[in-house]
Amino acid sequence: MKFKDKVTVITGGATGIGLAYARRFAKEGSAIVIGDVRDEAGADAVKALRESGGRAAYFHADVTKRQEVAALFQGAMKAFGRVDCCIANAGIVHDSGFLDLEEEDFDRVMDVNVKGVFLTGQEAARAMIATGKAVPDWRGGVIINIASTNAVVVQHGQVAYPVSKGAVNLLTKVMAISLADDGIRVVAIGPGPTRTEMLDNVIKSHPEFMKNVSLRTPLRRPAEVDEIAGVAAFLASEDAGYITGQTIYVEGGRLCLNYMMPERP
Ligand SMILES: NC(=O)c1ccc[n+]([C@@H]2O[C@H](COP(=O)([O-])OP(=O)(O)OC[C@H]3O[C@@H](n4cnc5c(N)ncnc54)[C@H](O)[C@@H]3O)[C@@H](O)[C@H]2O)c1
Repeated sequence: MKFKDKVTVITGGATGIGLAYARRFAKEGSAIVIGDVRDEAGADAVKALRESGGRAAYFHADVTKRQEVAALFQGAMKAFGRVDCCIANAGIVHDSGFLDLEEEDFDRVMDVNVKGVFLTGQEAARAMIATGKAVPDWRGGVIINIASTNAVVVQHGQVAYPVSKGAVNLLTKVMAISLADDGIRVVAIGPGPTRTEMLDNVIKSHPEFMKNVSLRTPLRRPAEVDEIAGVAAFLASEDAGYITGQTIYVEGGRLCLNYMMPERP
């Protein structure tokens, strides 16, 4: 119970890896506040967390809209009285070649993946500073931004997504330095391909995908969502108390690998 009595806000927490963070942090004792645009999935997530004995709330919050992000953190403070951790996880992808990418699709990806992380970080930090004033034994806050291996290596057919994730890495450094004196650590996680429903569908329609993952990943497989959530739980804990400004890549060795792994013997 690493996070007993603590409160964690997760954007994009209704599905995918976001939901895995919610389950893991709830298991460690944290109350969970999910902000998402998929209201039905959000309500289902909260129901499941409560049925497993957790404290949880859902708010509709489009991370590109200042008022909705502010309302998410006000909702968390009202429901549970504090904010200790925030995972800025909401993110979108848009497939397109460089010459074909429409301006509005570039803007849409940057809006969610960069501006959304900025607005979330600002409102999270304000709620954490308010928590510090209201809760005498507050031990500091942690903001975890979700980047990607695409922040440092680029995938053919992706333009705005890697640019946005590179920006998340730099925003993490900016926030870490800006918020250090407020007792807030800011870190990022850069997952490699991770086994969500979406990836399972890609695997079904493109069976060669797993072979490519195996040749480009020393550990020969995508991550499981719980492996990403476990790293988030470590980064949010006091065991990671001297880590700030860093992006931790959870990618099965992919970023170390030049060329490809041999075919499996
Ligand atoms: N799955 C992977 O392989 C992988 C790899 C690297 C990084 N990531 C990153 O992890 C994060 C989660 O990815 P996922 O695979 O779980 O994706 P997902 O599509 O399953 O989940 C993303 C969630 O974000 C929500 N969302 C989208 N736009 C939003 C908005 N404007 N405001 C609020 N919520 C919004 C969606 O409704 C959804 O619930 C993303 O930032 C993604 O870029 C994923």
